[in-house]
Amino acid sequence: MHIAHDILNTRASAWTDAIFVRRSRRLFDERPADADAVAKLADIAERFRPFDDARTVVVPRSPEDLFTGVIGSYGRVAGAVSAMLFLGSGKAVGRDNHVGYVSEALMLEATALGLSTCWVGGGIRRPVALALTPLGAEERVFGASPLGVSLPETTVLGRPRREVRTLDRRKPIATIAHTAGDAWPDWARRAVEHAQWAPSAMNRQPWRFAYEDGGLVVRVAGPEIAPHISLRLDAGIAMLHLELGARTEGVLGTWTDLEGRDIARFDPIGA
Ligand SMILES: Cc1cc2nc3c(=O)[nH]c(=O)nc-3n(C[C@H](O)[C@H](O)[C@H](O)COP(=O)(O)O)c2cc1C
Repeated sequence: MHIAHDILNTRASAWTDAIFVRRSRRLFDERPADADAVAKLADIAERFRPFDDARTVVVPRSPEDLFTGVIGSYGRVAGAVSAMLFLGSGKAVGRDNHVGYVSEALMLEATALGLSTCWVGGGIRRPVALALTPLGAEERVFGASPLGVSLPETTVLGRPRREVRTLDRRKPIATIAHTAGDAWPDWARRAVEHAQWAPSAMNRQPWRFAYEDGGLVVRVAGPEIAPHISLRLDAGIAMLHLELGARTEGVLGTWTDLEGRDIARFDPIGA
């Protein structure tokens, strides 16, 4: 727990910058990614364990076909030599949001190190993961990301791929935090502005934020697009962004997991 706190303290500013730079990249140069960057990322992945039921593993050399079969409506994820696997274990209510939170920290660290990424949910089969890293009996693969140098995404005619561009639009603050207004402190508004840029499966942006009793509550709403990927996972990703946003106003806090469509609440320390 202490180590994870130290990493958050030292990396928060780089991760915050990365929020506004990161975009999902799906086409990669087949040359290996910078070995130093991959080694640094692997080191942080090993040490950043704020929850005991979620972790990330960096795989410096992943098989070419790791993402085959996880195509969906996105287009293929191809060409990356390295990858990350996002793992969760046990049955605690917060497991999926913990996986989202931890994986996003590593996605932002990768971005800060100059490595391109793309969250890919589901579809990585256990035997394929087992060939890359040992898994605990209770551990499950929730997703993965390619890591490396990305190529421009174009159609066969050389035009930018429209579906990739439209997929990164975000819902307005008025939709995701409809009570946001004068009654909200600056830190809470800032927190939501950072959460707004969180990636989510199919860009469904299921998270909603409410300022209640001095803290921020994260909920999920909306239809279950891509129901095989848990909404809690998306919410966990947004939680990390929210916390980083609060920190830009000097507010540190703690998380409490909640049940059902209420995912978790963030309470400022010392409030
Ligand atoms: C949990 C999760 C699962 C995702 N699954 C896939 C996937 O299977 N294939 C893919 O190409 N992109 C996938 N994405 C990427 C999203 O489509 C992308 O984050 C979203 O459209 C927003 O765009 P941005 O990441 O460029 O900001 C996933 C993202 C998340 C958070």
